[in-house]
Amino acid sequence: MIFVLGSINMDLVTVAKTMPKNGETLKAEKFYTNPGGKGANQAVAIAKLGGSVKMIGKVGDDEYGAILKDNLMSFGVDVENVTVAQTSSGIANIIVANGDNRIVYTAGANDCITQEEVDKGLENAKSGDIFVTQLEIPIDIVTYAVDKAKQKGMIVILNPAPAQELGQDLLCNVDIITPNETETEIITGTAPDSEVELALAIKNLYKFGVRNVVITMGERGSIVTYGNNIVPFYARKVEVVDTTGAGDTYVGAIATKLDEGVDIVSACEYASIASSITVTRSGASQSIPTKQEVDEVIKNEEK
Ligand code: RIB
Repeated sequence: MIFVLGSINMDLVTVAKTMPKNGETLKAEKFYTNPGGKGANQAVAIAKLGGSVKMIGKVGDDEYGAILKDNLMSFGVDVENVTVAQTSSGIANIIVANGDNRIVYTAGANDCITQEEVDKGLENAKSGDIFVTQLEIPIDIVTYAVDKAKQKGMIVILNPAPAQELGQDLLCNVDIITPNETETEIITGTAPDSEVELALAIKNLYKFGVRNVVITMGERGSIVTYGNNIVPFYARKVEVVDTTGAGDTYVGAIATKLDEGVDIVSACEYASIASSITVTRSGASQSIPTKQEVDEVIKNEEK
């Protein structure tokens, strides 16, 4: 079983031809809303890729709250521990231009998750279950939950997004950390721009007590470490439409595969294919591929 603790947002997406510069007003091409949030996207990725997942999180008592919860349920995510706070739902304002994105996020209900709710959400978790979380909810809740999950013998995956500096109290309980390049630089002080810097950043993360490092680097692909080994995965060449949710797909795919008993290197190889499909489509949860879609790509590329 996989448990995801994290954010649930409504994404307000504006698609423009270019990113506006400071002080510039631009006419956009289109606007749409769709369910997102790093936690919710990761839970949806797990469900779409065939995993069993329980979400622990909070929505607001506004019009978006019910839509966000229904969306999770529609993909088969267990929402027994998704509760309602007397405030607005999390909102992400996203600008997409030329396949790239910029996100400004308001936490709303995501900031109201309590330790008691984490306890209740993890009540039935067992040793060997997978625990996944990110940083769009309060850091003290993340630290508490990661410690609790570790005490229960769960495998802890931390997606340190959005980036912030992190302490040893949190990182020493993390089995797998999955930063992108910016997050790697903020946590370790080293941007993974060259092989030497990549090795240095990984060494710093190991010093904090993290056991495995997975760094996602967009078009440069991704790497996974186990022990002293670094295994690279090249990014599949695809036409990028929107990168929103690609990192979440990667994390959800790793969790799904580890829960199936697959080793971390094969899990990352699968995750890199799954997220390469996400970037070819618009939006967050709806752009994440199903297990059948990923299997189809793998089958076609083996031919
Ligand atoms: O990782 C993508 C997500 O980040 C979006 O869905 C948005 O909600 C922001 O939280």
